[in-house]
Amino acid sequence: MKNIIILNGSPRKNQNTAKMCESFAQGVKDAGGEAEIINLYDIDFKGCRSCFACKLKGGKSFGRCAYPDGLTPILDKISAIDGIVVASPIYCSDVTGVTRCFIERLTFPFSEYKEGYPSIAPKRLKTAMIYTMNVSETLSNQMYPDMFDKTEFMITTVFEKPVRIFAYDTYQFNDYDKYVVEVFDKNEKLKHKEEQFPKDLQKAYEAGKYMIKSIEG
Ligand SMILES: Cc1cc2nc3c(=O)[nH]c(=O)nc-3n(C[C@H](O)[C@H](O)[C@H](O)COP(=O)(O)O)c2cc1C
Repeated sequence: MKNIIILNGSPRKNQNTAKMCESFAQGVKDAGGEAEIINLYDIDFKGCRSCFACKLKGGKSFGRCAYPDGLTPILDKISAIDGIVVASPIYCSDVTGVTRCFIERLTFPFSEYKEGYPSIAPKRLKTAMIYTMNVSETLSNQMYPDMFDKTEFMITTVFEKPVRIFAYDTYQFNDYDKYVVEVFDKNEKLKHKEEQFPKDLQKAYEAGKYMIKSIEG
């Protein structure tokens, strides 16, 4: 059985990003794999502490993150899984800070400070990124022309280039009337949620199936 871990980098456990994660997980399961969703906001951890134990010559933690905290059991699973998915809403033109901290801890120990920065990850894992955001696809392309490449750079270096799945123009509030929102039309948002979001969920589902099929070759 192929195992996939899906990290939800949104604080909300039942909204856009979480639903995309669930759809991806369903695709994995329907293709015969196992999927575990982990909510990063439930875990007590921070970003890299720059201790360099992962780069110490002859060190017992060479090539792995030595900092003991809530992330340790998850990082310890990496050698036993077949694929990893990182999902995040866009906050202030980037992935969430928690997602960013996770990517640092996940990838930096696997990138050796040698010519070409070779990967010493235990496996070249299949990877996928799920992004959800308020802006439209057109605006996203204008506003974030290279943000996704930068976010994925270390993941691509140590594992494989991620498959990308997007949900644009997401529905942010359960009741738009309760909040001061002048820049978005609530009816347009609702229409998008009802017509487009199910298609985005389907894309996540297909990507989950595809990940299992591509692992099995
Ligand atoms: C603090 C904060 C900052 C945000 N910044 C952006 C942004 O820069 N660009 C954007 O398109 N959406 C932005 N959003 C909207 C979220 O990315 C969007 O609603 C996302 O789908 C929320 O995911 P969730 O439903 O899983 O929480 C922001 C939301 C929050 C709470």
